[in-house]
Amino acid sequence: MRTVYLAFTAALAILFLAGCQGQADGTQLKLAHNQTLDHPVHLSLVEFGRLVEEKSDKKIKVKIYANGQLGSEREVLELTQSGAVDIAKASASALEGFEPDYSIFSLPYTFEDYEEFEKKMNDKSVTDHLYYQTEEIGFIGLTYYNAGTRHLYTKDREVQDVTDMRGLKTRVQPSQTSVNMIEAFGGLPTPMAYGEVYTALQSGVIDAAENNETSLVGNRHGEVAKYYMYTGHQIVPDMLVMNAKRFNQFTDEEKKIIQEAAAESTLYHEDVWTKTIEEMTQTAKNEMGVEFIEVDKTSFMEAVQPLHEEYRKDERTKDIYQLIKGADGNE
Ligand code: GCU
Repeated sequence: MRTVYLAFTAALAILFLAGCQGQADGTQLKLAHNQTLDHPVHLSLVEFGRLVEEKSDKKIKVKIYANGQLGSEREVLELTQSGAVDIAKASASALEGFEPDYSIFSLPYTFEDYEEFEKKMNDKSVTDHLYYQTEEIGFIGLTYYNAGTRHLYTKDREVQDVTDMRGLKTRVQPSQTSVNMIEAFGGLPTPMAYGEVYTALQSGVIDAAENNETSLVGNRHGEVAKYYMYTGHQIVPDMLVMNAKRFNQFTDEEKKIIQEAAAESTLYHEDVWTKTIEEMTQTAKNEMGVEFIEVDKTSFMEAVQPLHEEYRKDERTKDIYQLIKGADGNE
């Protein structure tokens, strides 16, 4: 409790000092995220900040708080709602707790492949819907970043099909849809914040987790988890969201600068992402001894069919399902 209190006080002090500094220097936007400094998303956020500064002739600057120093994704989203943080990068799974439509990304095997996902994310009817509907709860979307495809990894067990998932304590993001997914696979879901996963794997609180390849190296999960199975169960983007009031205080021209910088940083990110995934996979394989295993996805896909049936009928989710998958679920 005391540690939580001290961390909270420290976060507030950082925000206060940054705020004072910002006033002397023109407008400074505070951006928070939970990745390390060598992570591709961090590099793309640095590019976003550079573009904002360049396009605004240094009138608007972006100060980045990385490594979860201002809190977990849920916490920084709350800070963004209240305006204590201006911009947050968070997984679409974390956003599910704020806006149910974001759960579509955690519904397993929604997209056949990255191309289908990318097509939807370049469709303005999809992104306008996602980005602006949260305005009334305090933030809007600016852009998304490729966060790869999520696969399962375990400490000491090869998983070939869902029968191997029995009793497997598996960390998921704090997202009900991801909890339902692991249950449907037959495992035991354990939702927790990203920053706690390494210790939980190491101490045996969990046996497994699921994520893209960067978590093995950037967050060192590959030191403890030695089996990485290509289950490809989710394509969950990272979202960049901004406090709505703060955004609306800018002139139209400034708003455009922020939105264009965001969109350009998403394109920049695609190259950085592809390169980093290749490098980190090699590092995990050759330096950390992680085994990468191809699996037959059939049993995983079959196990979650009932989730799709429920999702497309449920009053709360049927519209977003239709928007993304089309009326017959096959678009
Ligand atoms: C990805 C994502 C993060 C998220 C993490 C998680 O790495 O980019 O935003 O926090 O997954 O599993 O929690």
